[in-house]
Amino acid sequence: MSIPVITLGAAASAYVPGLEQLRGPVTVVRRCEELPDLVAACQSGLARAAIVAPGATELTASLVDRLRFAGVAIVALTDGPVPDAVEGVEYVGSTVGAAALAEAVSRAVERFGEGSSRPQGSLAYADPRYRPEVAAPSPPQADEGPADGRITAVWGPTGSPGRTTVAINMAAELAAAGTTVLLVDADTYGASIGASLGLLDESAGLAQACRIADQGGFTGSALGRIAVSVAIKGARLRVLTGITRPDRWPELRPAALGQVLDAARSLAEVTVVDCGFCLEADEELSFDTVAPRRNGAALRCLEVADSVIAVGGADTIGVPRLVKALAELADAVPTAAPRVVFNKVRAAAVGRAPEAQLREAWERFGPAAGIDAFLPVDHAAADQALLAGTALLETAPASALRIAIAELADVPVTGRPPGRRLRDVRFPGNPARLPR
Ligand SMILES: Nc1ncnc2c1ncn2[C@@H]1O[C@H](COP(=O)(O)OP(=O)(O)OP(=O)(O)O)[C@@H](O)[C@H]1O
Ligand SMILES: [Mg+2]
Repeated sequence: MSIPVITLGAAASAYVPGLEQLRGPVTVVRRCEELPDLVAACQSGLARAAIVAPGATELTASLVDRLRFAGVAIVALTDGPVPDAVEGVEYVGSTVGAAALAEAVSRAVERFGEGSSRPQGSLAYADPRYRPEVAAPSPPQADEGPADGRITAVWGPTGSPGRTTVAINMAAELAAAGTTVLLVDADTYGASIGASLGLLDESAGLAQACRIADQGGFTGSALGRIAVSVAIKGARLRVLTGITRPDRWPELRPAALGQVLDAARSLAEVTVVDCGFCLEADEELSFDTVAPRRNGAALRCLEVADSVIAVGGADTIGVPRLVKALAELADAVPTAAPRVVFNKVRAAAVGRAPEAQLREAWERFGPAAGIDAFLPVDHAAADQALLAGTALLETAPASALRIAIAELADVPVTGRPPGRRLRDVRFPGNPARLPR
C-alpha cells in the first residue's frame, strides 16, 4: 500500500530525497511551509501521514485532532525529549535516517488504522481519539454483479423543496416493483434519510463506506454489508445513511464518494442519491492549495449520475430559485441533463390551475429544460409517512402524491384514481433569458 505523505517545515522536507530514494511505500506528495497549507492539504484527502519538523508548529491536541479527523497520521521530528507528548503522535529524533523515518511513518499509519476500528464507546466527536466508525475492508466476492447499475441524483435548490421525499419515494417505488435499489444520503448540510425512515442507528453508512473505499479495492458486496436494509411492502430497500452531524462533511470526500458510487453500480440496479443543494465551489478560491470542498460531495454525485432530478418548490420563491440553481448546475456540471420536477404544487400558492400557471411562469423565465412532472401538495400523506418512518406507498398508497412520484420513477401504479393524469410538458425555452 502506498503511503502519500505531506511534510511541514524545512527540516521535514530535507528528508524528501532520502525517502524517494528508498522507493518504498512512503512518497511525499506535497511540501508545506505553513500550517494552514498543511491543514488544507490534509483535509483535501491528499495524504495518509504528515511529517512535521521541530519548531514548524506547535502540535496541540486540537491540531492533531483536526489532522487525524482528516485521516492523517502524524510523525513529529524532535530535537530532544518531548515533555508534553501529544497522544496519537509518533515522535522520532530529527537526526534519524530516511529508512527509520519511513518506518516511523508506516508505524504511525498502522496504529492509526488500528485506532479507527476501536469501539467508539462514549467518545465525543471532539475527542482526539475519536475516529469515524469503520468496518473491515472485505475481499472481492466471486458473486460480484456487473457494474452496470444506474445512478439517479435527486437535487434541487435550498428551501426544502422535497429532495428527500422524492428520493425516498422513488427508491421505495422501484424496490417494491422488484428492482434492486440502493438509497444514498449524500446531503452534507442536512442528512435526513435515516430519520425519515425511522432508522435509529447512528452509523453514518455513507461515511463508513467512503472511509473504506478510500483505501482502495472497494466492491459492491462490501458496500452491501455496510448498507442497512429497510423492508417496504415486503421488498428490500438498501440504505446508506448520511452523516450524523453536518460538521462531519469532510468524511464525504469526493474521490471516495466516487468509489462508493462505482461500487453501487454493481450492488444495485438503481442507486438513488439525495444530494445537498449547494454547488458553490468558492471555498477553493480562498486557499493557495486544494481546500476541502463541502459541496464536492453533491458535485461528484451530479457528475457521475446517469440522470438528475431537479426538484423545485412550486411557489413564487421556489420557481426563480430553481431557475437560478439550474443555471449554476449547467456551469458546474455541464454534462447533467436534469429532469425538472415541481413539488408541493397547489393552487393556494400560484393560483387556479396551478400546473398551467407554473408552465406559464416557467416559459417566462425560459430555462432550456421543460417541466417533467408536477407533484401535488399533500401534507397529510407526507406527514403520515414521516410519522410512520416509511414511504408513501405504505401509508398513503392511493394518494396523488404517491402516484405522481411512482410515475416519475417509471413504475406503473395499479388502481390509480381516475381523472389524475400527470402530463409531460416540454418547452423549447429560450436559454438566452436564463438569469446568470
Ligand atoms: N408534496 C408534498 N406535500 C406536502 N408536504 C411535502 C411534500 N413534499 C415534501 N413535503 C414535506 O416538506 C418537508 C421538506 O421535505 P424534504 O425533507 O423532502 O425536503 P428537502 O428538499 O429534502 O429538504 P432539506 O433542505 O431539509 O434537505 C417535509 O416535512 C416533507 O414531509
Ligand atoms: Mg433533504
